[in-house]
Amino acid sequence: MAYLVINGGRRLEGSITVNGAKNAALPIMAAMLLATGECTLRRVPRLQDVTVMAQVIRALGLQVEREGSTLRVSPAPVITPAVPAELMRQLRASNLVMGPLLGRHRYFRVPYPGGCAIGSRPMDLHLKGLAAMGAEITESQGFIEGRTTGLKGTVIYLDFPSVGATENLMMAATLAEGVTVLHNTAREPEIVDLQNFLNALGGRIQGAGQDTIRIEGVRELKGADYRIIPDRVEAGTFLAAVAGAGGDVLVRDCQAEHLLAVLAKLTEMGAQITLQRDGIRLQSPPRLRAIDCKTLPYPGFPTDMQPQVMALMTVAEGTSVLVESIFENRFKHAAELRRLGADIKIEGRVAVINGVPALSGGQVEASDLRAAAALVIAGLMAEGQTWVEGVGHLDRGYEQLEVRLQALGADIKRQF
Ligand code: EPZ
Repeated sequence: MAYLVINGGRRLEGSITVNGAKNAALPIMAAMLLATGECTLRRVPRLQDVTVMAQVIRALGLQVEREGSTLRVSPAPVITPAVPAELMRQLRASNLVMGPLLGRHRYFRVPYPGGCAIGSRPMDLHLKGLAAMGAEITESQGFIEGRTTGLKGTVIYLDFPSVGATENLMMAATLAEGVTVLHNTAREPEIVDLQNFLNALGGRIQGAGQDTIRIEGVRELKGADYRIIPDRVEAGTFLAAVAGAGGDVLVRDCQAEHLLAVLAKLTEMGAQITLQRDGIRLQSPPRLRAIDCKTLPYPGFPTDMQPQVMALMTVAEGTSVLVESIFENRFKHAAELRRLGADIKIEGRVAVINGVPALSGGQVEASDLRAAAALVIAGLMAEGQTWVEGVGHLDRGYEQLEVRLQALGADIKRQF
């Protein structure tokens, strides 16, 4: 298995360009199942998760061609509305095909996606919402089936602003009869991007980005040529890397308004952040300051940046308190950071991190995609050499991370 070898202590200088958002590309690719016309999607990141989602929609019948960061997808006359189990196990987000399949083909069959390193990842909110729109949902032998004679618009209140449930229900409602109103929806920028894509197909959706979304059912969704938003988590990860390793870097092509909570916390830790026309510049302080931080649904501090900010806290001056309120089991990276000399105590969803003067290199293993990013940041900061195993997790959400960090001056290599 591949692993990364990092010699820490090098300053990062220069500029980096952010790729398209993984968590916008995945639902939009699922939404293409609703379209009767050709779709072109631009600024699609070249990531393992995107490759698997392309395999999923291809297995369902769509024709998918990739040309660099552009995806061209043609509709299929016949759809096989069942996701192969091995693909569902690789990518939980393949559950995003449930809404489109039900909405356009009135049936889906998916294997129950396994939990993963960060939690059990239930889908009760997705299924409850689809049932409220007139779907008959059955679960047996590890599979979930949904069928309907035709979805009908209704009013749905989400018990929790789930990103995936909001996306599945938006997509299902686009072709339903009548109007659907979703309350207590997720407000992430990726939800707004999905709304804009669906409206480009001919949908009539408004309110994404707020806590109520109104979807007026239409008869048909055609094709579209669409460019997705930049990846706010990739941008945040690079900013955190510079803040921790030390340096002065411009992160280009990102939208600062998608990152306000992250920028606020990095500033509170002592980083100097300048918003420029072409990106965000971060200059690191001599030493970071400890802070308190709690992950929340957007626009709160994103859970997908929690591991990265924990890495920074390990060497910040003082004691930090970090609360993970979104996922029940997203602290696995703490044990790996301890192997590098971090002083972290975990009590349920609360982590208390006493900053140490420096981490020292060692061998660590990533358990999920953002934990992998956190361990890379720790390796960049640590004295000596760090080996990071589990690079496959990294490649799910970051395109050639080590190559792009090398370009900024990091001493990091992939070994096989
Ligand atoms: C999306 O996952 C993202 N994935 C995750 O990013 C991100 O961490 C998460 O949103 C939260 O922001 C994609 O967009 C592909 P949720 P999703 O439904 O939709 C509970 C990454 O690193 N819940 O908002 O699965 C759930 O257990 C990934 O790129 C229910 O209880 O997240 C969790 O505790 C990791 N029932 C919380 O809600 C449900 O039916 C948030 O989950 C659905 C969710």
